[in-house]
Amino acid sequence: MPDQTPLTMGQQFGRRSWAEPWKIKMVEPLRMVDRAGREAALIEAGYNTFLLRSDRVYIDLLTDSGTSAMSDRQWAGMMLGDEAYAGSVNFYHLEAAVQRYYGYRYLLPTHQGRGAEHLISRVAITPGQIIPGNMYFTTTRAHQELAGGSFVDVIIDEAHDPTSLHPFKGNIDLDKLAALIEREGAARLAYVSLAATVNMAGGQPVSLANVKAVKQLCDRHGIRVYLDATRLAENAFFIQEREAGYADRSIAEIVLEFTRHTDGAWSSAKKDSLVNIGGWLAINDFEVFEELRNQIVLFEGLHTYGGLAGRDMEAMAIGIEESLQDDHIRSRIGQVRYLGELLVDWGIPIVQPIGGHAIFLDAKQFYPHLAQSLFPAQTLAAELYLDSGIRSMERGVVSAGRDPITGDHHYPKLELTRLTIPRRVYTQAHMDVVAEAVKAVWDSRAKARGLAMVYEPKYLRFFQARFSPA
Ligand code: F0G
Repeated sequence: MPDQTPLTMGQQFGRRSWAEPWKIKMVEPLRMVDRAGREAALIEAGYNTFLLRSDRVYIDLLTDSGTSAMSDRQWAGMMLGDEAYAGSVNFYHLEAAVQRYYGYRYLLPTHQGRGAEHLISRVAITPGQIIPGNMYFTTTRAHQELAGGSFVDVIIDEAHDPTSLHPFKGNIDLDKLAALIEREGAARLAYVSLAATVNMAGGQPVSLANVKAVKQLCDRHGIRVYLDATRLAENAFFIQEREAGYADRSIAEIVLEFTRHTDGAWSSAKKDSLVNIGGWLAINDFEVFEELRNQIVLFEGLHTYGGLAGRDMEAMAIGIEESLQDDHIRSRIGQVRYLGELLVDWGIPIVQPIGGHAIFLDAKQFYPHLAQSLFPAQTLAAELYLDSGIRSMERGVVSAGRDPITGDHHYPKLELTRLTIPRRVYTQAHMDVVAEAVKAVWDSRAKARGLAMVYEPKYLRFFQARFSPA
């Protein structure tokens, strides 16, 4: 008689539970402010989650930037800071890590990503030039515009559709890029600004085939390709998972293969690279490097520290290595996916496929009764905080800013609220709590009334704008 015992889920599907590849050595208490306290905090913050004091926040999903938990090895590295003004040994460790793992020849540390964006924009853009890219990022575009350039979006159309299941929604549309080169002439293009993954599209990846094709097209016209490598490790995970021929290649190998098709890169190391502060700019061409090195002393610091302490560079060098380990990246993206799949199961509209660093709630579908001029994504972030003390951020019309020429709001197709997951910080139980809070806000969505902007700063307005109920 064969055994009639029903199979468990695990036996049936071969499913085995998964766990983070680390254990917790130090804890930081969390506190939940009561409803009245949250209401007061939100009014004080002008309904902008960037203006909330962090001690009023329960689970902080504002950003994955600088919010990672460092490892014991990184903290040990902090104690080995060589705080010499010039030629710190930690700089040489960092330089070696970037050369080894990202493959570029010359390195400049910067205080964070936008420091690097500032330098590359000053050096590589002549006023009046165009910078095509795969969807804008706020600080990247701001520095390109400050340098007198204008950004042109050449991402594939699918990127603007939150429901499209295209596996590489970060890809550049080669026809759009070729048409732009044809129309404007190669000399008008400063460089191609390629980001992998694409933050504003929902943490969506670029395929290796795409970067190769972009590089070939640009080489034919003598145009450089510069990469925003801030979340390239996460991008490599999606290549390993989805692109034919890469399933058996390591994350580190894929990263190196990717950067081979670019001429240089900048990174906000506060994301992938698991540090609380820091960034870098790396380049292959010595002449460009020399110009960048001339500029860095004006704006960041000497070329061997770039605005960082020696200890910060040491933590970054170690973080780079840890960030490219396959089990780390699998667990990192696995946690984001766990949260996203709970929401999808409950019918809550999010950007799909689920991206690398965050879940993006589709605020247009939450609040179809709110015009985009009532800031639906900002409203959703405020409602979520009010419900549960969870802090998210707006990625819609407020982030998109105004057209520098007409002064009108940019109205992006994507009106999103981002739940950004810090690396190695929260547990699966926190993700359950977040999912339930989002569900509560979804269930009461008909009551939302929108917001009016009552104060608007000049640059990157989403950081400091203030709102009141519409
Ligand atoms: N590039 C990308 C793709 C980014 O996401 C960021 C920062 C930067 C550049 C700028 O780097 O902050 O170190 O100066 N993104 C943060 C975020 C702010 O929350 O997405 P930074």
